[in-house]
Amino acid sequence: MAAVAAASRSDELEALHASVSNCTACRLAETRNQVVFGSGNPAAELMFVGEAPGFHEDQQGLPFVGAAGKLLERLLAGIGLARDDVFIGNVLKCRPPGNRDPLADEIEACQNHLFRQIELIQPRVVATLGNFATKLLSGNPTGITRVHGREQNVRLGRSEVLLYPIYHPAAALYTQAMLGVLEEDFRRLPELLGREAAPVEPGEGATAEIAAEPIASEAVTQLGLF
Ligand code: URA
Repeated sequence: MAAVAAASRSDELEALHASVSNCTACRLAETRNQVVFGSGNPAAELMFVGEAPGFHEDQQGLPFVGAAGKLLERLLAGIGLARDDVFIGNVLKCRPPGNRDPLADEIEACQNHLFRQIELIQPRVVATLGNFATKLLSGNPTGITRVHGREQNVRLGRSEVLLYPIYHPAAALYTQAMLGVLEEDFRRLPELLGREAAPVEPGEGATAEIAAEPIASEAVTQLGLF
């Protein structure tokens, strides 16, 4: 029964992929080469959420295929996992021109794709890479420097997940101290994956309801994303 349910969620994820590939909900549709939906195991226990595709991702249609992706793969190998074991996605599915930061209205336009992905994949742990993913999915404006490595049970729409904020690998590429912290935080992932999902207290985590109530751009701004 569970296998049937997983198969049908995987089909739905494929259908979502097909529909998101034609998304024109924000200005990024005009400048992207292609939508970068995300990739990996459609029933992954561990999902990573980055910021947005960069140049290489926009060319290849896959997330984290540049230098930051190589580091992510190395960190994964360090805990005995490969890309295909996990699902890797982003807050934005399209590359912002020049790799600039995501804008509030772009996040608002794109967020339901991410919430739906989480609902279909049903990961136990969602590791947010850097500020944008962390602030969006935690519903809290506190920056990554203060919250990295601190797991928290959150409800995202109909899913309950263990949210685990960590530094973005791109930031760690250039700062040795940050790389050390990222490696240390990464080493806790196996323990977190073995942990039973704890009940979520009302009011904890992001308040966005999948598809029903997207966070408005003013509210996104209040989260301190910018
Ligand atoms: N950085 C991200 O946040 N996402 C990618 O896909 C690549 C680099």
